[in-house]
Amino acid sequence: MLFRVEVVEPAEFAKWVQKQKAEAAPVAAGSKAEKGKALFAAKSCVMCHNVGGHFGAGAFGPDLTHVASRKSLAGAWLDNRDPAQQLALERKTGNTEDSVPVDPVTLKANLIKWIGSSGVAHGADGKPTKDVKPGNRMHYYKMFNVAGLRETNQQFTAEELDHLAEYLLTLK
Ligand code: HEC
Repeated sequence: MLFRVEVVEPAEFAKWVQKQKAEAAPVAAGSKAEKGKALFAAKSCVMCHNVGGHFGAGAFGPDLTHVASRKSLAGAWLDNRDPAQQLALERKTGNTEDSVPVDPVTLKANLIKWIGSSGVAHGADGKPTKDVKPGNRMHYYKMFNVAGLRETNQQFTAEELDHLAEYLLTLK
């Protein structure tokens, strides 16, 4: 397990705490993010994840209200920074602890990879793939199956994954 500790001045820390406590901003009407938000509610995500200001029921998985502000996902399995930029910075300063900010393109690809390879999504053979962080406890919530969800398989189209990721990208 990897934990990253960031050392900041008290005023900056207070600002960070305030931001993390804030609710998520509303999504723009007619956007891909709005479609993703609807999928988040319809595809069982909401059963396990809380998004402050949007959804409040899920407590089993991590709170996703500010997921797009994180430098890594799934306990640092997926790094949300641009690898080339990060390497250039480390070479320049000679310090691997120095960090570039989150890169939205890398983050989006990681979100799609994570959701697409979790137990929530199933492969063509109907079995969960779990390529990323095998054994993690994100799986399809069959228990709370609601009308419209298939009983055993929950596959996502590329478009649905794109919309879900676009929604999560707004959660800064
Ligand atoms: C059965 C409960 C459950 C369901 C349903 C579920 N998740 Fe998760 N989710 C988890 C758990 C547990 C983790 C933490 C996994 C780990 O890191 O080991 C997680 C992690 C995540 C993360 C990474 C968060 C981070 O900070 O690392 C994202 C993003 C995410 N889930 C999105 C989704 C989306 C989108 C859906 C719906 C398609 C969904 N989840 C459905 C339980 C669930």
